[in-house]
Amino acid sequence: MANDKVSIHGAWASRWVFILAATGSAVGLGNIWKFPYMTGMYGGGAFVVMYLFCIALVGLPIMLAETLIGRRGRQSSVNTMRSLALEAGASKHWSIAALMGMIAALLVLSFYSVVAGWALDYILSMGRGDFAGIDAAGAGAAFGSLTDDPWRLTLWHSLFMLLTAVVIGKGVVAGLERSLRVMMPLLFVLLLVLLGYSFTTGHFQEGFNFLFHFDPSKVQDGILAAMGHAFFTLSVGVGAIMVYGAYMPKKASIGATVLAVGLLDTLVALTAGMALFPIVFAAGLEPGGGPGLMFVTLPIAFGNVAFGQVMGLIFFVLVAVAAWSSSISMLEPAVAYFVEKTGRSRAKVTAVLALLCWLVGMGTVLSFNLWAQAKFFVFAEDGFHLLQWGAEGGKTFFDSIDYLTSRILLPLGGLAFALFAGWMLGREAVRDELAMRSPHLFKLTLWLMRVVAPVGVLIVFIAELIK
Ligand code: TRP
Repeated sequence: MANDKVSIHGAWASRWVFILAATGSAVGLGNIWKFPYMTGMYGGGAFVVMYLFCIALVGLPIMLAETLIGRRGRQSSVNTMRSLALEAGASKHWSIAALMGMIAALLVLSFYSVVAGWALDYILSMGRGDFAGIDAAGAGAAFGSLTDDPWRLTLWHSLFMLLTAVVIGKGVVAGLERSLRVMMPLLFVLLLVLLGYSFTTGHFQEGFNFLFHFDPSKVQDGILAAMGHAFFTLSVGVGAIMVYGAYMPKKASIGATVLAVGLLDTLVALTAGMALFPIVFAAGLEPGGGPGLMFVTLPIAFGNVAFGQVMGLIFFVLVAVAAWSSSISMLEPAVAYFVEKTGRSRAKVTAVLALLCWLVGMGTVLSFNLWAQAKFFVFAEDGFHLLQWGAEGGKTFFDSIDYLTSRILLPLGGLAFALFAGWMLGREAVRDELAMRSPHLFKLTLWLMRVVAPVGVLIVFIAELIK
C-alpha cells in the first residue's frame, strides 16, 4: 500500500534532522546524571552489562517500531495508533497504549524539569565562582542547600518549564535544528575534556573497573532498573519517538538511523560514567550517592582545575541544553494530540499542558524538603499504605513518579508498540517502511521486534515479581 500521508505539524528537512532530534531527545539528564548514579546504586558493572543488553535487544527494536509506526501514521501517537489499527483491521483500543505513553511522558517532564533546574542553578553558581577550591564536604553542603530550599527549586523549575514551552509553542522544526547543530557536538567535546581530567586523578583504573567489573550476584537486584533505564535513556515507550518519526521524510532508512541514535546515546552515557567515577573515588565519595552524585562530584572537579570555572560554566549550560532538547520530546506527543483533537492553536495547547506539568512538578520540588517525610507505597508490617508520613520504607513523591514511569509505564508502552508493529501492522507494511536491502537483515529485525523485545520486557517483569 502506498503511503503518502503528511503530518499537519510539519516535517524535518532530512533524515539528519530526525537523527538530531532523536539524539537530542535521547541524550539528556538520563545519560549524564541518571546513568552514573544508578550504576553506583546497583553495584557497577553488573548494571552496565544488563543495561547494554537491554538497549540492544529491547530498546533499539522498540525505537525502530515507534519510528516506523509514526512515519506510517503521520499523526500524533494516539491518532496514529488508532488509524493504523483500524486500517489493519485491529482493535482501535491499541491507541490506549499511546494515550498511556503520552501521560507517562508528561509525568517524566514534571520531575525532569526540576532536575534540569538544578543544572540552571549550577550555571549561576559556577559563574559566580562559588565552587573555587571546594572539597567533597563543601560540594555536598552546596547541593544540600539547593535541594533544601523550595523557593530556589521552584524558580528554576518554572524557568525550565517555560523554556520547554517556548520551543514547543513555536514549533519544533525551526528553533531546534539550528541550536542542536552547535550544542550537540559541543557537548561531546566537553565530555571528552572531562574524561581527560578524570585521567589525571590517578583513580581512572578504579573508576573503569567499577563500571565494567561484572558481579553476577548483583544481577537480580538491578535488572528492572537496567531495563527501565534503557527505555528512559532512549526515550522510548511513550510515543515521543513516534511523533518524531511522523515528521520524518519518506526516503530515509529507518534501521541505520535508529542504530546511530542508540550508539550515540550509549557512548555519551559510558563516557559520562568513565569521567565521573574516577572523581568519585579520588574525592573519597560513595559511588552509591544517589541523585546528587553528579551535582556533588562535578563541582569538585571543576573547582580544582585550571580554567575549571569556565569549563564548569559551559558544562552546566550544555547539561541544561541536553535536558532541554530532551524535555521538548516529552511535551510534543500531548501537544500534537490536543492540537489535532481540539483544533486550538499550538501555543494555547502548549501553555495549558506545560502548566499542568509544572504543577505536578511542584510535588517533586517539595519531596526534597517540606514533603521529604511523605512516603508513598509503603509496605509495612501492618500492611500497605498508599501514603504515610515519616514511614521507614516507601518512596517520596519524586521517587514514586520516577518508579512508576521508568519501571512500569515505559516498558509497558514499549511492549505494546513492539507487538503492534510486529504483529498487527502486517509484514508488508513493515517491509515497506524499513526498506532494507538484505532479506536476512529484515527477518532478523522483524524477529527482534516480534519476539525478542516483548519477551525481554516480560521476563524482566516476571523476574521482579518473584524476587
Ligand atoms: N532520554 C532522555 C534522557 O536520557 C529523557 C527523555 C526524553 C525521556 N524524552 C523522554 C524519557 C520520553 C522518557 C520519555 O535524559
